[in-house]
Amino acid sequence: MRISGWGKYLPARVMPNSEVAELVDTSDEWIRARTGIRERRIAAPEETTCSLAVNAARAALDKAQVAPEDLDLVLVATCTPDYANMPATASLVQHALGAPRAAAVDMNAVCSGFIYALATGSQFVATGAYKNVLVIGAEVFTRILDWQDRSTCVLFGDGAGAVVLQPTNQPGGLISFVLGSDGAGACSLYVPAGGSRQPASADSVADRAHYVKMLGRDVFRFATRVLPDSVVEALAAASMTTDDIDVLIPHQANTRIIDHAVKRLHVDASLVFSNVERYGNTSAASIPVALCEAIECGMVRPGATVVLSGFGAGLSWGTVVWKWHA
Ligand SMILES: CC(C)(COP(=O)(O)OP(=O)(O)OC[C@H]1O[C@@H](n2cnc3c(N)ncnc32)[C@H](O)[C@@H]1OP(=O)(O)O)[C@@H](O)C(=O)NCCC(=O)NCCS
Repeated sequence: MRISGWGKYLPARVMPNSEVAELVDTSDEWIRARTGIRERRIAAPEETTCSLAVNAARAALDKAQVAPEDLDLVLVATCTPDYANMPATASLVQHALGAPRAAAVDMNAVCSGFIYALATGSQFVATGAYKNVLVIGAEVFTRILDWQDRSTCVLFGDGAGAVVLQPTNQPGGLISFVLGSDGAGACSLYVPAGGSRQPASADSVADRAHYVKMLGRDVFRFATRVLPDSVVEALAAASMTTDDIDVLIPHQANTRIIDHAVKRLHVDASLVFSNVERYGNTSAASIPVALCEAIECGMVRPGATVVLSGFGAGLSWGTVVWKWHA
């Protein structure tokens, strides 16, 4: 199989750290030193996860020269769907694109979501069941941020990225993957209310319980362990080592997490793609957006071994080893 098309969409509005510092007691220096983030994008009021996803998807379909009518499957990785419960955002995207033949479903593994969706979509192509699969990671994460909570609101941003998967008789595609979850850490990073456990009520709104809560240090410890571990495990499953990595695209949560992992993996920093300083953590969108930019800047060469690795709420993680087409 191959990734025959890729696309991204970032909302136009840039919010620098200095603007966040007008809302909460923080500073550009603190945010840059602890996270590497300088600015993030904020969706316009009329934009939604669906509209971001559609923009990224159209770019990916154009690149692949695939007509929406020919799509077999639309997978949308997101934790900020247009509607909290139903319908799936993927159905909205499928309709907006004009893809009447396509099955459509959301996948929520939060920041690992795109890796889960990429591994899943690849199975349909590998088995021959589907020929044109669209995999999207899209988030309007800033709508679940508490702009009074400096421990979380400095970290996240909005965006979308998409890829088109197609069969090919050339070698390449998904070489191996690792997907994992540890629900014991569910409350390290979560939104308490709005689901069946704590339905929306006047109290839940007054308690600001519809916003993200995070135990930052716990998540940091988890991320710095699981990112290198899952990369090594996925490479081993492909009978490879870190020496075989041509490009490493980690989830763009935080420069310190990426630096920790890269040090533990002994991977040359020049092989690691990062854009976290410009977009912050865009959750499920971070890896496909980073992949697009790594391709655009020439890092992903024909035949390259590209390792994509995500981690996040769940807790969850996932790594894909992908052989880029020649
Ligand atoms: C969030 C994170 C940057 C905080 O950095 P940290 O070094 O762990 O900081 P701590 O939480 O220990 O807080 C240190 C101090 O900074 C303060 N602080 C927290 N956020 C702050 C902010 N935005 N600005 C200024 N000070 C802040 C804390 O209140 C604390 O003050 P105190 O020592 O007076 O109590 C870090 O824990 C992290 O990156 N965690 C992973 C988060 C993540 O990536 N989540 C998504 C994964 S998909």
